[in-house]
Amino acid sequence: MKVLGIETSCDETAASVCESGSTPLSVTLRSNIVHSQIALHAEYGGVVPNLAKREHEQLLVPTILAALKEASLSPVDSLPPNIDEVAPFFERNQTLLQSFRQHAAVLTKPDIDLIAVTNGPGLEPALWVGVSAARALSLLWDVPLIGVDHMEGHIAANLIEQDNHPTLTEADFPLLALTISGGHTQLVLMRAPLTYELLGETMDDAAGEAFDKAARLLGLPYPGGPAIAKLAAEGEADAFPLPRPMRTSGDYNFSFSGLKTAVRYLTEELGEAETQRRKADIAASFQQAVIDTVVEKTVRAANEHGARTVVLAGGVAANTELRRQLGDAIAADTQAAYHVPPIELATDNAAMIAASGLLRAVAKEEFSDARTIGVDSNKQIGATS
Ligand code: KG4
Ligand code: ZN
Repeated sequence: MKVLGIETSCDETAASVCESGSTPLSVTLRSNIVHSQIALHAEYGGVVPNLAKREHEQLLVPTILAALKEASLSPVDSLPPNIDEVAPFFERNQTLLQSFRQHAAVLTKPDIDLIAVTNGPGLEPALWVGVSAARALSLLWDVPLIGVDHMEGHIAANLIEQDNHPTLTEADFPLLALTISGGHTQLVLMRAPLTYELLGETMDDAAGEAFDKAARLLGLPYPGGPAIAKLAAEGEADAFPLPRPMRTSGDYNFSFSGLKTAVRYLTEELGEAETQRRKADIAASFQQAVIDTVVEKTVRAANEHGARTVVLAGGVAANTELRRQLGDAIAADTQAAYHVPPIELATDNAAMIAASGLLRAVAKEEFSDARTIGVDSNKQIGATS
């Protein structure tokens, strides 16, 4: 089974082709194209939803075509599709419709069996671009469609085969996922594949958002995560005592806005010149506060629920120190194995969406109706598509 994945929930325009892997729980990557809009949003210090929408509308069709081409799929039909048939689906996305018309001659049906698209959570105008395109392609090509939860997708990045070896099997469950991104920070228990129990989540800012806000206080560019991580490598993690909010709260929830405020007070106290002089130490101290908070609760949850595997997922999973320190803590203090996706599959991409859609479609035979599928910007993990 071959699947085309489409992801436009935030500021990456992405498409990928994946195929069923060597076990029922693994997926092979055939292509993975990600066009990051970072340069566009950087001057505003964060993602501007309507700019993201416009950029997705212009880039998505070429990105899909590039993913199909890189996967070397043989065409099934030689006739170009009739775009007029699906024009009503583009009510919100006229620029995307134009792009479909422009590329109609090369939008011939490829050899795929399923289209998977992120339909939440995320920025509503951005989500609609991917969903409008996916509905249209599903009808034009007569291929089934499945709406995928972006956070389930992040977890599924761990199921993409590496060096042609399967990653996880049924024996690796119960599985605990720490999903940590720009919009979410969650501990998710999977007692079995495709079942999701939310153990806890952030009460305010997501961890990635805290990285982005702390970076701004230090005068670093958007997105702040990679900038802080780079700077932190040259600093001392115990230079400044910053809070570990909710560390002793007894539950699995998180809070990061107090930590961000503590960084703000610290920079105000130090003044501009001293803040700049000590910014590597501030970055390292901040990063360590985030790591301590999430590592401690992840270890506790893994032990309480007898997790056989702990996986790290989401954009912040690209953080080298977090990857290393969580791995060390899991090895030292739990019985669980530890798994992280390669860095390029940790941040937003469409391979994870293809993987998640494929596994759900095969296991549950659950599809979405191309005529009625919508988007849910607050979609909760585990909800049906
Ligand atoms: O999953 P993702 O690509 O998009 C969302 O779904 O939000 O995550 C983006 C977030 C941003 O907040 C970014 O600053 C953070 O992930 N991030 C990092 C690193 N790379 C990306 N945070 C810490 N360290 C990194 N190396
Ligand atoms: Zn994400």
